[in-house]
Amino acid sequence: MKIIGTGSALPSLAVTNNDLASFLDTSDEWITERTGIKERRLLSTETLYDLAEEAALKALKASGLRGDQLDFIICSNVANRFITPGMNCILQEKIGAKCAGLDINVACAGFINALMLADSMMQAGRAQHILIICAEEPSKYCNWDERDTSILFADGAGAVVLAAGDGFKSVHLSMTSNKDVLYYERCMEKTPFEKNRKEGQPLVMRGREVFRMAVSQSTKDLKVALAEAGLKPSDVTYYLMHQANKRIIESVRTLLDEPEEKFPTNIEKYGNTSSASIPILLDEMLAAGKIHKGDILAMSAFGAGFVSAACVMQWMY
Ligand code: COA
Repeated sequence: MKIIGTGSALPSLAVTNNDLASFLDTSDEWITERTGIKERRLLSTETLYDLAEEAALKALKASGLRGDQLDFIICSNVANRFITPGMNCILQEKIGAKCAGLDINVACAGFINALMLADSMMQAGRAQHILIICAEEPSKYCNWDERDTSILFADGAGAVVLAAGDGFKSVHLSMTSNKDVLYYERCMEKTPFEKNRKEGQPLVMRGREVFRMAVSQSTKDLKVALAEAGLKPSDVTYYLMHQANKRIIESVRTLLDEPEEKFPTNIEKYGNTSSASIPILLDEMLAAGKIHKGDILAMSAFGAGFVSAACVMQWMY
């Protein structure tokens, strides 16, 4: 399987750390130093579906395919306004597709899990062309009266079109049931029968624990995925890491003993856009002409669960 087109879309509203400091007990200095984030994009006038559609249409255009030539759509999303129907259904008509699809929620590791699913479908002969759309609006489930998560998360969408063929070399997925370190509990409708009804609550995070797990699991996953691909860390051209915290990326880099220029970031501008962060970064790198045929890309992501995933691919065009 190989990627034949990418696209991304971000909200028009840029919110700086100083903007946040005007209503939260925080500062540009603290956020920059602890996370690397300077500003983020947050939905204001657009909807998440607008971003998802824009990213998908750009990826289709780059691939040279029309929507009706797709065999399957996979959407990665943690939460959006519609619980049902799935985001893939909502987007199908907007992008001119006729095929079936499904939504997955593997938190911020959704993109790599979607790649694994797409690769499996192609290997089973069920599809030749698959569109993955990662569209996330975590700003809608942070607590905006608190400074703990609202400074980190942001909105955005990234998409890739995949075709059967060579390129995808290995994937490694991990999961440990550890809900309490990071969760968002949604409020459901009230029934006349439910006793001891529990209200929902915005995103809860134990930042330090997530940080530690992210560094150790991400390093482990990358080593396993590289070994499965028969490669060494030094063979990798770029590590495309989930953009959660610059210090997490820096810690993984140090543990792998790899140079800084192999770890591109855009967290400074966009914050943590959950599963959309890697496809957005990939799209920007391609647009900047930084990725070339034959390059080895290693990707790594982690998130609520606790889940994590890494994969290795060779760039084919
Ligand atoms: N602004 C200013 N001060 C803040 C703050 C903020 N936004 N958030 C916390 N603080 C304060 C704390 O109250 C604490 O103060 P104290 O020393 O007086 O008690 C101090 O800063 C240190 O807090 P701590 O939570 O220990 O900071 P940290 O260095 O662990 O950084 C995170 C916090 C959230 C940035 C960091 O833990 C992190 O990034 N974790 C990973 C989170 C993540 O990636 N989640 C998504 C996974 S997909």
